[in-house]
Amino acid sequence: MSRIVVLIAALLMAACGGEKTASDSKSAASASEKVSNGETATSAAAEKVAEAAPEPIDPERAYRPCAVCHSVADPNTPKGKIQLAGPNLFGIYGAKAAQQEGFAYSQAMRDAGITWNDENLDAYIERPSTFIRGNRMAYVGERNPDKRAAIIEYLKAQK
Ligand code: HEC
Repeated sequence: MSRIVVLIAALLMAACGGEKTASDSKSAASASEKVSNGETATSAAAEKVAEAAPEPIDPERAYRPCAVCHSVADPNTPKGKIQLAGPNLFGIYGAKAAQQEGFAYSQAMRDAGITWNDENLDAYIERPSTFIRGNRMAYVGERNPDKRAAIIEYLKAQK
C-alpha cells in the first residue's frame, strides 16, 4: 500500500516536473516570440515614420504655377518691368496689397486693405476667389498646406 502511495507521488512529481519543463520552454518560446515581434514592430514603426515624413518641398518649384502670371524680378530691372497677367511680386511679403505701380488691380484688391503676411497669404493662396471676393486672380488655389508654406517661404525671399 505504501509502495503504491510512493509510486503515485513519484508519478505526480514526474508529471509536475514534466509540466514545469513544458511551461518553461513555452514561456521561453513566447519570450523569443515577443523579441521577434518587438523587432517587427520596431521596423514597422520605422516604415511608418518614413511614410509620414513629408517630402521636402522645393520652394522655387512650388512657386512655378504662380510664375506663369507673377514675376519676382526687381521692378527696377528691365526683367522686372515685363508685365505678366498678374502684378510683380518682388517684395510682396510685408507689403500692402495693390501697390505695384502700373498694374490695373481690381477694385476688390484695391479695397482689400491688407498687408501681406503669412496668415493672409496662406488664406489667399488657398482660395483666392473667396478670400478676396471679386478679385481677378484666375488661380484655383493650392489645397496642400505644405505647398502653400513653401510658396510663402519663396515669396519672403524675393526682396
Ligand atoms: C492666371 C494668372 C495668375 C496665377 C496663376 C496666379 N496669380 Fe496671383 N494674381 C493674379 C492677378 C491678375 C492678380 C491681381 C488680382 C486683382 O487685382 O484682383 C493677382 C494678385 C496676387 C497677389 C496680390 C498682389 C498685390 O500686389 O497685392 C498675390 C500676393 C498673388 N497674386 C500671389 C499669387 C501666388 C502666390 C500664386 C501661385 C500660388 C498666384 N498668385 C498665381 C494672377 C495670377
